[in-house]
Amino acid sequence: MSSLREGPTTVVRREDYAPPAYWIDTVELTFDLDPAKTRVLNRMTLRRNAAVAAQPLRLDGEELNLARVLVNGAGCSFKMDAGQLVLDNLPEGNEPFTLEIFTTCAPEKNSQLMGLYVSQGTFFTQCEAEGFRRITYFLDRPDVMASYTVTLRADKARYPVLLSNGNLEEEGPLPDGRHFAKWVDPHRKPSYLFALVAGNLVAREQRIVSRSGKEHLLQVFVRRGDMDKTEHAMQSLIASVAWDEARFGLPLDLERFMIVATSDFNMGAMENKGLNIFNTKYVLANSATATDTDFANIESVVGHEYFHNWTGNRVTCRDWFQLSLKEGLTVFRDQEFSMDLCAEPSARAVKRIEDVRVLRTAQFPEDAGPMAHPVRPDSYVEINNFYTVTVYEKGAEVVRMMQTLVGREGFARGMKLYFERHDGQAVTCDDFAQAIADANPDSALARQLEVFKRWYSQAGTPRVRAEGRYDAEARRYTLTLSQHCAPTPGQAVKQPFLIPVALGLLDAQGRELPLPESQRLVVLADASATVVFDDIDSEPVPSLLRGFSAPVVLEYADSDAQLLTLLAHDSDPFNRWEAGQRLALRRALAAVRADGPVAQPLDAAFIDAMRAVLRHDTLDAAFKELTLTLPSETYISEQLEVVDPQRVHAVREAMREQLAQALHADWAWAYEQHRDNGAYRPDPLSAGRRALAGMALTMLCLDARQSGDAVWPGKAYQRFKDAGNMTDRFNALSALVVSGHALAREALPRFHAMFRDEALVLDKWFALQAGAPDRGGNILPAVRQLMAHPDFQLRNPNRARSVIFSYCNANPGAFHRADAAGYVFWSDRVLEIDRFNPQVAARLARALDRWKKLAEPYRSAAREAIARVAAQAELSNDVREVVTRALS
Ligand code: PHE
Ligand code: ZN
Repeated sequence: MSSLREGPTTVVRREDYAPPAYWIDTVELTFDLDPAKTRVLNRMTLRRNAAVAAQPLRLDGEELNLARVLVNGAGCSFKMDAGQLVLDNLPEGNEPFTLEIFTTCAPEKNSQLMGLYVSQGTFFTQCEAEGFRRITYFLDRPDVMASYTVTLRADKARYPVLLSNGNLEEEGPLPDGRHFAKWVDPHRKPSYLFALVAGNLVAREQRIVSRSGKEHLLQVFVRRGDMDKTEHAMQSLIASVAWDEARFGLPLDLERFMIVATSDFNMGAMENKGLNIFNTKYVLANSATATDTDFANIESVVGHEYFHNWTGNRVTCRDWFQLSLKEGLTVFRDQEFSMDLCAEPSARAVKRIEDVRVLRTAQFPEDAGPMAHPVRPDSYVEINNFYTVTVYEKGAEVVRMMQTLVGREGFARGMKLYFERHDGQAVTCDDFAQAIADANPDSALARQLEVFKRWYSQAGTPRVRAEGRYDAEARRYTLTLSQHCAPTPGQAVKQPFLIPVALGLLDAQGRELPLPESQRLVVLADASATVVFDDIDSEPVPSLLRGFSAPVVLEYADSDAQLLTLLAHDSDPFNRWEAGQRLALRRALAAVRADGPVAQPLDAAFIDAMRAVLRHDTLDAAFKELTLTLPSETYISEQLEVVDPQRVHAVREAMREQLAQALHADWAWAYEQHRDNGAYRPDPLSAGRRALAGMALTMLCLDARQSGDAVWPGKAYQRFKDAGNMTDRFNALSALVVSGHALAREALPRFHAMFRDEALVLDKWFALQAGAPDRGGNILPAVRQLMAHPDFQLRNPNRARSVIFSYCNANPGAFHRADAAGYVFWSDRVLEIDRFNPQVAARLARALDRWKKLAEPYRSAAREAIARVAAQAELSNDVREVVTRALS
């Protein structure tokens, strides 16, 4: 078993950053690949960092067997200290010296999937953040950048493809049926961007010529049977290369760019220089096996990893506290990429709404819970715990606000300056903000850069309160904005944030009032500010925080009438959607807070407004689907001081059933209007039509559950059987499962039989069942059964997530049981997974982050379950950090 429990728990602090005592200039790695025992020869040239006081060389290492160490070709003395290899008799002076280290490791025993591991007979590496030290002893920190030459040697029959970063210099046969390949990376890089792959893979290849006339080879490597699922990833990669050149002037800097898919991966994908390694989930797709959502995710993740080539690889992080330097910026870039690929402006808005929904349902709770941390954290125990929605999604919002403040061209100028200054360096979030500000000296950002940078240093979601007053006599509208941010762990008092508030005013008929540009973007930089609008003829309806211009909670006591006006007329599609969400939320909260059994929470005005959206003749289908989707249970719960998850679940289900029933005829109309049978294309417009048709089918089946009607479930089953693509097929299956119809019991095994050899489709099959609405406590037993299914594999992260996370993290109505059995199940799984994969276990451990908000008996039961995990003597640092913070 792996040595999870090494060393004491130490806290790493940002303020303790010190430059490295040595530089590593070149690395020559030679691998003799063998699943049981791989030999690694690491030959480095190093020199002292003249800028810091002389000190011993301390190299990181983990789970390595050390065979030999040579300095300048001769044996030398060394010692081991806290897992590090320490050399203190190194040559005097600042001359370079060579250090050779021979180690072995056991890739087939590597269940953590960090470092060098084997997945389905193929070797892969994962080095970010600190996995390289599981391959060889090294200065495993991002500010040490070296030139790599890598020689791979392996059995030719089993491992015909040998890949590493950069360019293939040489390859050829070796004795005993072995062969070798030698790769040279022309770019210096930190160790976390190192990668190798060795196995029996095939590649889709495409040659492209970039704007500058340079030729590049693009390759997507997969297992032999998966070749027919690589076209979309390749098209996405081609689009990514073109986009980064066109939008930011950033070209591909390699002759060859490779993507390799693996089915065993802890995260989504990894941006290793020139050799991106992906979870199969974000590569493989064809219309028979992947849904529209999968297609869209692949496009965005392929883009994301490709864009890292500049924002992450060419300019990297000085230390891991700066993670958002590359992640926030790269998420922003992939979001913009997906939006720019949309032909219609309405599709851009849909993407924005989806991104904000993720932020508000996942990041806002994180920012209000025990794991709250600034976009640039100040300390961590385990860096893997800080690959969070805060660093990624809130970090992207921070970059987006900069663009809002300096304008699109100004932002492009800032990016240009950032690369002029920092190409080839390892830098900080401050360096980035400084470059954007310096390129735009007359902007609000430059004028108040220090205030703006509080977005990096302060955790928590600010709340912005807005109050409007209309003076009819003076024909004047006065808007007062004020801000407040609650304390977060370790930060009791917050300074004001710099908050760009994009806004507009509508008249009572919903017509946009003309405003000067300066009034359409108000920058709140103090505790409060007042804006005066003159020449306003009647009391306006304010449309605030348009496009979600800042990651804040807006508190404005708008009337239903105002929200209905915005829902019907706002020219800002985001706020139009938001008006519908606020109307629904208001009703949900009232029903949750009311006494007695849950009645019908929706009124005629709301239902009519939803009907008007559904039947609207110009809004597009994707927007309608988003607007008709009620706020999630998680989002509703976040608005409450004390949460009874069963009550929240019951209320939301009641609302959904009411919409299903009241709009029956409209859903039937929507289904017939939007179900098309033409050739499948995953573009946003047709995906939106499928999404709306799928939603309609679910609503019709839900209603049939109450009315006893058999027609719609029958239609859904028929659709399930003859759908021409996975989206329609899965939506039909889901309609049956979600409505709990008896036909689901026939459809599910049929679906399994159809796709028994498609791992990613089976993941969906598992997830659908583990995430289904709970009816009388039936889901937990179903989850246990799924775990006993022959296709269930706990050690495969995708499969484990598809059952366990779908239940614990994504199905609150089933997970929060009055008998606490959900929590006991959770603690058992956290402990079980922690024994072989701490990273995945620590993510699961986050499922009870918000336990303090729960009503009794949930609250005590949840605390007990967390305490049970925390009481384990043998716990990884990853899980220990999460549960300790949860209990504090
Ligand atoms: N850097 C990867 C990304 O955002 C995420 C990742 C982190 C993958 C750590 C693996 C391990 O694109
Ligand atoms: Zn990333």
